[in-house]
Amino acid sequence: MSSAQKHRLGILLSGRGSNFIAIADNVAAGRIPAEIAVVVCNRPGAPGLEEAQRRGLDARMIPSKGLEREQYDRQVVEVLRSKQVDLVCLAGFMRLLSPYFVSQFPNRILNIHPSLLPAFPGLEAQRQALEYGVKITGCSVHFVDENLDAGPVIIQSSVPVLDDDNVETLSARILEQEHRIYSEAINLVLAGGWRLEGHRFLRTQDATLNAAAGR
Ligand code: GRF
Repeated sequence: MSSAQKHRLGILLSGRGSNFIAIADNVAAGRIPAEIAVVVCNRPGAPGLEEAQRRGLDARMIPSKGLEREQYDRQVVEVLRSKQVDLVCLAGFMRLLSPYFVSQFPNRILNIHPSLLPAFPGLEAQRQALEYGVKITGCSVHFVDENLDAGPVIIQSSVPVLDDDNVETLSARILEQEHRIYSEAINLVLAGGWRLEGHRFLRTQDATLNAAAGR
C-alpha cells in the first residue's frame, strides 16, 4: 500500500464509537493520510453511527440481527467495495468476520482489542485482566483473520493495573492508549515499509521517512 494515493478507510462499529471518533479527528486534522469513505454499523441506535452522521460522513446502518454470518458479511463487503475502501478498521465491531470477508481484504482489516494479546481475547478483556490479577495489561492493534482476536499484532501499549482499579478505571486508562495507538497503527500500515514473517509484523523501513518521502 503506497501513501501516494489517497487511502480510503471503512470503519465498522457497533456501539459508543470512541475509537472511531479518535480516528476521525486525526483524519480531519490531516494526521492520517486518508479519508473515511464509509462508516457501517450493525446495531440500531449506536451512538457511534449518530456521531458519524453528525460529521457528515457516509454512515450506513446495516442490521445484522437474524442474519447468518456470511450473509451479513456479503452485504458489508459490497458496500465497502462500492466505496473503494482499501483499509477496513473495526472499532468496537461486535462480530466475528467470516472467512469470506477476510479473504476479500487480505491484511487490510485492523482491529483494536483492550488487552495485550494473546492474553484475554474475547469479551470483557479488562475484567478478565483484573480477575486474573495481572499487574500489566494494555491494548493491541492487530490484523484480523477468521479467528477471534488472533491475527498478527501491529502495535501494543502497556497499562499498569493499580491495586485500587475497578473495571471502569482500568478501562478508561486503557482507552486513552487505544485512541493513540489505533491511529499510529493505521499510519504504519498505510505508509508501507512492513512485512509479515509468519505471525510477526516487521518493519522493513522507517515508515515515517517513507511517508515523508511520499512513498
Ligand atoms: C474498545 O475497548 C475496543 O478495544 C473494543 O471495543 C471497545 C470499543 O469502544 N474492541 P468504542 O466503541 O471505540 O468506544
